[in-house]
Amino acid sequence: MILKQYYLGCLAHASYLLGDERSSTAIIVDPQRDIQQYLADAEKLGLQIRHVFLTHFHADFVAGHLELRDRCGATIHLGARAEAEYAFVAMKDGDRLEFPGLDIEVLETPGHTIESISILAFDLDKDPAKHPATPYAVLTGDTLFIGDVGRPDLRASLGWSANDLGAHLYDSLHNKLMVLADETLVYPAHGAGSLRGKQLSSDTVSSLGDQRRLNYALQPMSKEDFIRLVRRTNPTLPPTSRTTRFSTPASGHSRQQSGTGSPSDRSR
Ligand SMILES: [Fe+2]
Repeated sequence: MILKQYYLGCLAHASYLLGDERSSTAIIVDPQRDIQQYLADAEKLGLQIRHVFLTHFHADFVAGHLELRDRCGATIHLGARAEAEYAFVAMKDGDRLEFPGLDIEVLETPGHTIESISILAFDLDKDPAKHPATPYAVLTGDTLFIGDVGRPDLRASLGWSANDLGAHLYDSLHNKLMVLADETLVYPAHGAGSLRGKQLSSDTVSSLGDQRRLNYALQPMSKEDFIRLVRRTNPTLPPTSRTTRFSTPASGHSRQQSGTGSPSDRSR
């Protein structure tokens, strides 16, 4: 199994290549708009980019999922609660993609957005069990960061209150992510400098055990206290983020507003 992180400092954004050498398959997660580096690496590694995942609709950058589809014929995968005007595979909790050396399993982890997913990667080269108990890594999108969690207050224009999404976020963290093994590596979609959270670390990878110990938002607390905590002192978004990227016409996100480069995609 191959796992490579691409960190784009100016956007504090991380994307990923997951590769299975035995089937020559590459999976790209949360790609940047510029897909050249994924194409170059896939070629170097002898892999075909067959799948692309968005952990959620990104409002802060234009993603390259449509380019990867058009260029490589990659299948687009989104969370089951996503809506889009392009073909995609709706991934429900527990849905898997299985390859000889790599298993991918989707966890629906609503909170930052309602369609958010996290992606478990099982390294079958290291752990050849049919369904290994311990994921090697979890790609958490904007659900869990290193030292922080995703903001639940950015979808008001789509009808989701911060309280509702905050409650979902608490459940996703406690019921889906914090039950994973200490040694599972956490790879988020954003790092320090992002406005998606407020106490993001400069580290771009951690372990679940360290996050359980060190992340202020994962400390024992009631759901009500958690919602109060994550709603407090969020950095203010620049005006364009509030008024342009998050205002939604009745028909859904427009091309520019969605931030995903898609004709229309939104969560439901
Ligand atoms: Fe996000």
